[in-house]
Amino acid sequence: MSSLFDLTGKVAIITGASSGIGTQLARAFAREGADVAILARRYEKLEELSKEIEAMGRKVLPVKCDVTNEENVKTAVKEIIDHFGKIDILVNNAGVAAEGAVDSITEEEWDKVYNTNVKGVFFMTKHVAKVMIERKYGKIVNLASIYGITGSKTSPVHAYQASKGAIVNLTRGLAAYWGKFGITVNAVGPSLFETEMTKDGLFEEQNLRMYNALVPLGRPGKPGELDGAVIYFASDASSYTTGQTLFVDGGWTSV
Ligand SMILES: NC(=O)c1ccc[n+]([C@@H]2O[C@H](COP(=O)([O-])OP(=O)(O)OC[C@H]3O[C@@H](n4cnc5c(N)ncnc54)[C@H](OP(=O)(O)O)[C@@H]3O)[C@@H](O)[C@H]2O)c1
Repeated sequence: MSSLFDLTGKVAIITGASSGIGTQLARAFAREGADVAILARRYEKLEELSKEIEAMGRKVLPVKCDVTNEENVKTAVKEIIDHFGKIDILVNNAGVAAEGAVDSITEEEWDKVYNTNVKGVFFMTKHVAKVMIERKYGKIVNLASIYGITGSKTSPVHAYQASKGAIVNLTRGLAAYWGKFGITVNAVGPSLFETEMTKDGLFEEQNLRMYNALVPLGRPGKPGELDGAVIYFASDASSYTTGQTLFVDGGWTSV
């Protein structure tokens, strides 16, 4: 049965695939038929995931890459093109968070967050888009956050909020400029999913109780509950949708 969301024959890059949402998305893309290039700094984790994806009958290329380093990114993109011959989809998922308000966060922490979450997306998108522009086809999906459009009275994460706000509007800027090349650029904005990034603070009992009381669906997201939104933006189901951020947040941004 054909499906609007089918990714058979597509080649997708997923950054930050060594844990959390990136690992989950790599599995979901493979399930929908895509071959995947999985990127992160922890190569051994990518190798483990590669075995799983190969067992699903898909092609997979693990690539050690620090997205904050442009030379690394250039080399990775070349390796992916040499291996697969094309790139259809880029999921800019790699990211880091840091707690703190602007009057407490250090410059080093600020730079780490910004270099990964914004400059990393800049480098990946710059080098992958060159290939997409030539082919006049491409689907770019960025991982934003509810903190791309909201603040918090109790948990200041100002560097993170600034970085994700940048992603929401970079998504619009790229979509506006590259529509003429058949490239769509969209973003997904999660609220809370349990991963390495969130498990130690946000999943502590008191924080979780507060979150559950605030969010209309009364619970955090479960593994897999982001797959649909990302696959929508990565597939031809979203052929006339660009520049959008879809919040997968249990209703957080609606209240
Ligand atoms: N979990 C949530 O509730 C939530 C909510 C909103 C938005 N998000 C966003 O979702 C994305 C994934 O987060 P997650 O929750 O899955 O976090 P996670 O489990 O900590 O995963 C982050 C991933 O990013 C990679 N990464 C970090 N710095 C990198 C770098 N310099 N170069 C290459 N890869 C790098 C890490 O791999 P290595 O360490 O191996 O390099 C890891 O695979 C992030 O953009 C995050 O901001 C998450």
